[in-house]
Amino acid sequence: MSAESSDSKNPILSGIGNVFLFLVPVSLIVMMGIVGVSFIGGMKGKKVEDAPVAAVAPAAAPAPANNAVAPAAGTEVASAPAPSGGSAAIDPELMALGKASYAMCAACHGPDGAGIKVGPALMAPSLIGSKILLGDPDLSLLVTLKGIAKENMDYMGMMASLAAGLDDQKLAAVLTYTRNEWGNSAPPVTVEQAAAARAKYAVVNAPAGVKRGEIEAIVNAHK
Ligand code: HEC
Repeated sequence: MSAESSDSKNPILSGIGNVFLFLVPVSLIVMMGIVGVSFIGGMKGKKVEDAPVAAVAPAAAPAPANNAVAPAAGTEVASAPAPSGGSAAIDPELMALGKASYAMCAACHGPDGAGIKVGPALMAPSLIGSKILLGDPDLSLLVTLKGIAKENMDYMGMMASLAAGLDDQKLAAVLTYTRNEWGNSAPPVTVEQAAAARAKYAVVNAPAGVKRGEIEAIVNAHK
C-alpha cells in the first residue's frame, strides 16, 4: 500500500503527468484555434466574392419585370430611358396637375404605368417606353382625344376618347406627366399643342377611336 502510493506520488512522474495534462488540451486548443482562424479567413474571402453577386441580382431583377409586361403587344420598350434628366426641368405644378389627372388613366394603365394585370392579360399597354406616348406629342394627343378602335383582344380594356374629361390644360399636364414618370423622359406637352390638337382633330371622324395602324398617317395628314 505504502509502496504503491509512494510510486504514484513520485514527484517526477506526477510532474511529467501534469505536464501532459497541461500540454494535451493546450495543443488541442491551439490547433482548433488555427483551424478556426483559417476557417473564418476563408469565410471572409468568400463573403467578398459573394458580395457583388448579391448586389447585382436585385438591380437586374426589375428589367425582366418590365419586359414581361411590354411584349404583350405593339408597345415597344425602347432602350430604357435614363432615370435622370427630363422631369427635373419640368414645371412641378404641371407635373402635379398631370399626376392628379392621371387618375382617369390609372384604372387601365395602372398607377405604375405598366398596365393593370387581369390574370395573364393586361387592361392596357404599358406606358413605360411607349413609342406613341414618347414620340411626337400629336400621337398621344390624337390617341387621348379620339381613343383607339378596338380591333382585337390584345388588351381587356378599350382606349375610349377622353376629350370630354380633360380640358386643354389637364390634357397637356397628363401627357407631360406620363412622358416624364416611371423613367420615361420626353419634352413637356404644352397647353397650346393640346388646344391645337383638339381643333385640328375635330374633323377626324372616328367615334369608336382611330385604328392603331392609322395613328401616324392621321397625325401626318394634319401637320
Ligand atoms: C378604359 C381603359 C383605358 C383608360 C381609362 C385609358 N386607356 Fe390608354 N389605352 C387603353 C388600351 C386598351 C390601349 C391599347 C388600345 C389598342 O391598341 O387596342 C391604350 C393605349 C394607350 C396609348 C398608346 C400606348 C401604346 O404604346 O400602345 C396611350 C399613349 C394611352 N393609352 C394613353 C392614355 C392616357 C393618357 C389615359 C388617361 C388620360 C388613358 N390612356 C386612359 C385603355 C385605356
